[in-house]
This record gives sequence, structure tokens and C-alpha cells, in this order.
Amino acid sequence: MDNFSAIDKQQVLRDSLACWNTGKTQEWLDLGIDMVMGRREGYYFWDLDGKRLMDVHINGGTFSLGHRNPEIIAALTEAATQYDIGNHHFPSPLKAALARELTESAPGMTHAVYGSGGGEAIDLALKSARAATGRRRIISIQNCYHGHTGLAVNTGAARFAQPFLAGESAEFTKVPFNDAGAMAAALSLNDAACVIMETIPATYGFVMPEDGYLPAVKALCEKHGALYIADEVQTGLMRSGDMWAIYGYGVRPDMIVTAKGLSGGIYPITAVIMNDRAASWIFRDGSAHMATFGGSELGCAVALKVLEILRRDSTRANVEFISSYLRGGLEKIRARYPEFFVRIRQNGVIMGLKFAGDESAVTVMQQLYEAGVWGIYSMLDPSVLQFKPGLLATREYCDELLEKLEFGIGQAAAL
Ligand SMILES: Cc1ncc(COP(=O)(O)O)c(C=O)c1O
Repeated sequence: MDNFSAIDKQQVLRDSLACWNTGKTQEWLDLGIDMVMGRREGYYFWDLDGKRLMDVHINGGTFSLGHRNPEIIAALTEAATQYDIGNHHFPSPLKAALARELTESAPGMTHAVYGSGGGEAIDLALKSARAATGRRRIISIQNCYHGHTGLAVNTGAARFAQPFLAGESAEFTKVPFNDAGAMAAALSLNDAACVIMETIPATYGFVMPEDGYLPAVKALCEKHGALYIADEVQTGLMRSGDMWAIYGYGVRPDMIVTAKGLSGGIYPITAVIMNDRAASWIFRDGSAHMATFGGSELGCAVALKVLEILRRDSTRANVEFISSYLRGGLEKIRARYPEFFVRIRQNGVIMGLKFAGDESAVTVMQQLYEAGVWGIYSMLDPSVLQFKPGLLATREYCDELLEKLEFGIGQAAAL
């Protein structure tokens, strides 16, 4: 018995409808998903009713190392015996150690600045690009999502900007992904501070960059004096099989933004990893930007443990194994439903499963939920299911997952 069994699920749903997020709660109920999370362990979680779900949503990589990873909980618990959030004005052993680890993990980088949310870190990267160049214009990709905060929401799709009267400013230019010509035209005015892109755009359904596209964008940035910001919130931290996916495409960015998984799913912490050019404001006026919770010492302790786990040979080997093992299994399922399950997009355990029909991944999500798998559709392309298995998943887990996928996808194909 755990404490969750005593909770009245219907009361939680009523309270959520009344005073948490009415629209979101209703949206899930309308889709037949009345989930209220209770127990969670590894790559499973349970509804308060007891229904068990295999988690391949993992909140965009937040739970890459599993829910309530015991090593991360131990690191947090140990740190809490001596540390707290710390004073954001002073250097600290944990902040310094994490900055060293992060910069050493990313060739060309010299500094790491912390935040507590991904959007906050994106805003900091965009501000840093403006400070470094003295330019205001920011170029991003159509149908992207970089977060909910002031600058970040302006870079993103209208779906998230318009409700808050953002996204219309001439300071923000959007170009189609995989279109180097459009990027060249946008940069040709020589007035852009930066280009910000996810290495593989998650909310757009993990569309893979075409050969040569990302290096071409980087070369254009260099030619026109703009910085290149790699949003690796969903693609970084070993999900591609390397610490940062961007280097695998032959690009050395000026900044990398990391969030979600850096927290180990336990304590929020995010970072912008910068080269000297991007960090120009730090040399001029280090107090120009600050955040009370950014780089909290407890968060640093957690992130240091996350990086230690990620750097292990066994972790890299497991990512390689499950990437190809799941690919093999998914190809077999696809071969059974070729008209419906039309494509597998993949780099490591970053995967998008594309189905026929505009909203098809919503149906797949519902059927998988019934079958005991939680994976979410891509909000900016609901024909793609985001498929994000955890880095430490076992072969047995993958077998169970593939069995349930085959069933759920079969059910959706038959509708
Ligand atoms: C690619 C990407 N960038 C930035 C963010 C914003 O992160 P956060 O929700 O922590 O503010 C997200 C969140 O989903 C994301 O997927």
C-alpha cells in the first residue's frame, strides 16, 4: 500500500477542472484519458486507479534516466544534508563543478549559465545573442516550440504565441525547416542576432534535418555575423547516442540550451552552454542577468549525478542497443500496417512515428493508452507520435513495449 491509494481520484479531477487547468483537464477527459498520476518507478507509472503505463513520453526527456532514479534521489538527499538553493550572487563548489563538466562536454564552449526552466534558459540564450551582436532580430523555424517565456514564445508557432498576443513582432522571423535558401534570404539583411533551432524539432514531430542542412545554416550564420543557438532540450543528454546531437551533424554551435533531463526528473535545473562570443556580457557585466533559482546548489548536485550516469560506457552501449532493437521491432510492426504506419523518424532514441491521416497519432495515442503505453502526439503535427524511450530501458522492457505497440497500432489501424 502506498499513500496514493487513499486519494480520491474523482475529487482530484473535480478540483483540477474547477481550479487547476480547466481546459487541459477537460481536453484529456474528452479524449478518454482520465489519468491522474500516482506511483511511478523506472519507465512505468500508475494511474491512481492502479492502471499501469509504460512511459515513452518521459516528458520530452525529463525522465530519460527513469522516474525516481535511486542514484539521483541519493545524490539529492546527500546534497540536502549540507546545501540548499544557495546564494545566486556567489560562486559555489557545485555551480563551478557543473559549469566545468558542461563546458568540457561541448567542444568550443567556455561558460555555463543556469536557469530553472527551459524557457528561461532559451530567453537567456536569445538575450546573450543580442548582447553579443548588438542586433535584435531573431530567426527561428516555422512550427517550432522553444518554450512559453517572453522571447521564447515569440520564436514559436502561432499555436502558442497568439493566445498571449505574441509572435507578431518584426523582430522575429520564421523560415521553413530544411530550407537553406529561405534561411539565406532571412540572414542576408545582416541584422540578425541569431538563429535558434532544435537539432531535430520535437513538437513538429522529430522531422530529421536533411543532409548538409544544419552545417549550411551554421555557415550562413558565420557569413552574416549571427550566432547559432542549438536548442538541445529534447535532443541532448545522450538521446542521440552522444551527449549533444548537434555535433553529430558536424556543427559547432555558439550556444547549447539544455533543460528537462538535466534535472533527472527530480529537481529543476537548466543551462545555457556558451562560447566566449556568446558570453560577451559575462565579461562586461556579469550581473546583467540573474535568477534566484538558476543554478540552485541542490539542482547542481542532481545535474552532476545525471552527467555522471550519462558518461558511463554502459549508458552509451544501452542507448545503441535499444535504438537498434526497437527499430527492428518497429519495422516489423510497420510492415504489418504499411498503409497506416508510414514512417519511422529516428536518431538514437529520438523517434517520431508517422501515421497516415492528419490527426492519426491522436488515435494511436488513445489506443496505446488503452493498451498500457503512454506516448503523446506531436502538437504541431498530430500525424506523428513522439516516441521517446528511456536511455536505460532493458531488453525485457523493449519486448513488452513492442508487444503493446503492435496491439495498440493494430487497433488504431482498424478504426
Ligand atoms: C525543445 C524545447 N525547448 C524548450 C522548452 C521549454 O522548456 P520548459 O518547459 O522547461 O520551459 C521545451 C519544452 O517542452 C522544449 O521541448
